[in-house]
Amino acid sequence: MGLKILLSGALGRMGRAVAAQAEAKNAQAAEAGEHENLTKIVCGVDPFADKSPFSPGFPLYSDFASVPANCAIDVIIDFSHFSLTRALLEFARARKLPLVLCTTAISTEDLALANEAAKEIPVFRSANMSVGIALLKKLVRESEAFLGDDFDVEIVEKHHNRKVDAPSGTALALADAASSARAGGFDYVYDRSARREKRGKRELGISAVRGGNIVGDHSVLFISDNEIIELSHSALSRSVFADGSLRAAAFLKDKAPGMYGMDDMV
Ligand SMILES: NC(=O)c1ccc[n+]([C@@H]2O[C@H](COP(=O)([O-])OP(=O)(O)OC[C@H]3O[C@@H](n4cnc5c(N)ncnc54)[C@H](O)[C@@H]3O)[C@@H](O)[C@H]2O)c1
Repeated sequence: MGLKILLSGALGRMGRAVAAQAEAKNAQAAEAGEHENLTKIVCGVDPFADKSPFSPGFPLYSDFASVPANCAIDVIIDFSHFSLTRALLEFARARKLPLVLCTTAISTEDLALANEAAKEIPVFRSANMSVGIALLKKLVRESEAFLGDDFDVEIVEKHHNRKVDAPSGTALALADAASSARAGGFDYVYDRSARREKRGKRELGISAVRGGNIVGDHSVLFISDNEIIELSHSALSRSVFADGSLRAAAFLKDKAPGMYGMDDMV
């Protein structure tokens, strides 16, 4: 039994958080006398494997082609970079491995490839692996349906100064949640600096703040002439996403091919 994981992006901040969280879970399980259901990172893939002095404590390969065919893997967890998505999908498909896809800013073309792959393997995708964000999305949908078009909707997201994509995948998922409850949907606005016109009713503004070591903050504001309702979520540490990805891996292990998300798991 147990869960054998290939960790893609093993040298990144999230990759390390997943490995640490797996160790923490195993320690807890061992303390409770459960020695069978352990989670094992059996190997990792990271393009910087040859250049990094860091040794993660499991075999690390610089590309998917180098992963030995006889390496027993139950599920892949990917927290890496969108430039790796194609190679990752090809590998998962070829080896018939379930895939938890956590990397963000994946192109539309590559998302279409992920949907294709989901016809052959189970794929779990979420721009945010926290249960709190799954709840926030639901609350945003319900709030928009309840409040209607007297309220302007704006989203503010804040992340650490190393994040390369903006806005965050989570901010877009929250915008989609609001949009799904508005007849005709919203038009997303990311930058008003080049415009000289007042805010339109169909607009949903998304602003990104980058600084320091912020793990991930999201606020959705519903603003009328008389009141403001603000729904917000703060991730206090990366373990929240790491834990979510390990839960998703356990959830996905014996699933039929298809595309899964947080709503299926929570
Ligand atoms: N779904 C979620 O809940 C969630 C939560 C946090 C982060 N993320 C996403 O996970 C991914 C990794 O996040 P992170 O904070 O660990 O990032 P990071 O920069 O610390 O790590 C990125 C990893 O990808 C690898 N990589 C491969 N090709 C790369 C390239 N061309 N440029 C840069 N790195 C490359 C790096 O070696 C590294 O291991 C990002 O897409 C991030 O947005 C998702």
